[in-house]
Amino acid sequence: MAIKQKQLLSEMPIAQTNIKPYWLPFSSNRKFKDNPRVIVSAEGCYYLDADGRKIFDGLSGLWCCAFGHNRPEIAEAVNRQLLELDYSPAFQFVHPLVIELANRIKDITPAGLDHVFFTTSGSESVETALKMARAYWHHKGKPEKTRLIGRVRGYHGANFGGISVGRIEPNRLPYGELITADHLPHNILPENAFSRGIPEHGIELADVLEELIDQHGASNIAAVVVEPFAGSGGVIVPPHGYLQQLRESCNKHDILLIFDEVISGFGRTGSTFGAEHFGVFPDIMCLAKTLTNGTIPMGAVVASAMIYEGFMDTDTPEHTVEFTHGYTYSGHPVACAAGLAAMDIFEQEKLTDRVHELAPYFEELIHGLRGTKHVTDIRNIGLAGAVQIEPVSNDLVRRPFDIGVACWEKGLYVRWAGDTLQIAPPYVCEKEQLDEAFNILSDCIGEVA
Ligand SMILES: Cc1ncc(COP(=O)(O)O)c(C=O)c1O
Repeated sequence: MAIKQKQLLSEMPIAQTNIKPYWLPFSSNRKFKDNPRVIVSAEGCYYLDADGRKIFDGLSGLWCCAFGHNRPEIAEAVNRQLLELDYSPAFQFVHPLVIELANRIKDITPAGLDHVFFTTSGSESVETALKMARAYWHHKGKPEKTRLIGRVRGYHGANFGGISVGRIEPNRLPYGELITADHLPHNILPENAFSRGIPEHGIELADVLEELIDQHGASNIAAVVVEPFAGSGGVIVPPHGYLQQLRESCNKHDILLIFDEVISGFGRTGSTFGAEHFGVFPDIMCLAKTLTNGTIPMGAVVASAMIYEGFMDTDTPEHTVEFTHGYTYSGHPVACAAGLAAMDIFEQEKLTDRVHELAPYFEELIHGLRGTKHVTDIRNIGLAGAVQIEPVSNDLVRRPFDIGVACWEKGLYVRWAGDTLQIAPPYVCEKEQLDEAFNILSDCIGEVA
C-alpha cells in the first residue's frame, strides 16, 4: 500500500498537485511555487527530478549525504530495525543499538570525548551543548557563568540558542530578544581573498576573545562555540593558530570550548573531525547530518569526562535526574540503525582518505573560477568550497539565486546562501563528475546578469 502510494506521488506531474499548503523552510516560497523544483529520487551522486533529469548533488543534500544516496546497507539496517523495535522510550530506558552507537561515536571522536548524548538534529545538538555548558557551571557552584560567545557568520542551527550564538543577520532579525551572546569577528579579510585552504592572515582576531573576557569577566562566561570552519556562513576557514589561541584562552580563564562539527564532522575536511584537522580539541562536540548519511534525523553531543563527571559528582540522591534535558526521539532505534550502518560505510570505505585524495583536485577546480565575472572570493577546505559573488547594489542574494537556479536547470545542484554559492560534493564522486559540475557552474556564473 505504502509503496503503491509512493509510486503514484512521484509519477504525478507537480502541476496537478496543490503545492500551496506546503510552507518550505529557508526558501523563497513565492518564487518557488511559480516554478517548483521537484526531486523524486536519488542514486549515488545524482538526484532525479520530476521531468526525469539527472542532477549532480553538489552539496551532498544539505551537507549530509556525503557517502552517496540510497546506500542499500543503510536501507536494509533501517528496514530490519523497523520490524524489530520501532521505538523505545528515551528516558530511563535503553535499547542495544543506542549503547553500540554511543561506543562507536566515543571510539571515532578524538580521545577524551567520551560521553554521548543523542538529539535529532544539528540545531538540537547545539541547544543541548549550550544548556550542558551552563548546567555544568551550575553544578560546579558557578551559576553566574552563563554568557556565551560565538562568531560572526557562524551558523548553529535555527533554534533560539543557535541563532543567538550564531550570527547570520537575516536569521536573527525578525525574532526579537535573543539569548545574550557576544561574537568574535569572522576572518573574511581582503588579504585572505582567494586563499587556497587555510588562509594566512587574521590570527590577531583571536585576541578579541581576551578583550571580551576583560570586558565581561571570565566568571560570567560559560563557553565559546565555533565551527572549526564556518560552513553555511560561506566556508570560512580560520587562519593557522586561530583555534589553538581560542583553546589557550579558554584554558587560561576556565571557559568551555564547544566545536560545532555538524558540517565538519565525519570527513568533510579530509580528517575525520575538524578538531583533528586543526589539532585543537574541544570540551564538547556537536554532531548531526552525516552521522546517518542524512537518512534519518539524528544528532549527538559528545562531552569530555570532565563535563560528564561534573554532572555525576553531585550530592543529590542517585534517583534524581542529573541533566534535565532530552528529546522524545533521542537515540531513536531506527536512527541508531542508520547511524551504525553509515559508520560502517565510512570506516570500511576509508572515506576520510577519499576526501584527502580528492581535495587537491577540488581545490584546483574551484580556484579555476577565479577571474570569472562577479567572483570576488573563493574559499575551500577538504571537499567544501564557497564562491563569493558580487552583490547587485545592496541585494546580496539575487545573483547567487539566479546562478543556483541556472545550475539546477543545467543539471547541477549547489546551494546559494547570502552572497555565496556553496559546493560540498559527496565523498564518493569521481573526478569526471566534478569536472562536469564545475563546467556548469562556470557557465552559469559567466552568464548571469
Ligand atoms: C554547523 C551547523 N550547526 C548546526 C546546524 C543545524 O542543523 P539542523 O539543520 O540539522 O538543525 C547546521 C545546519 O546546517 C550547521 O551547519
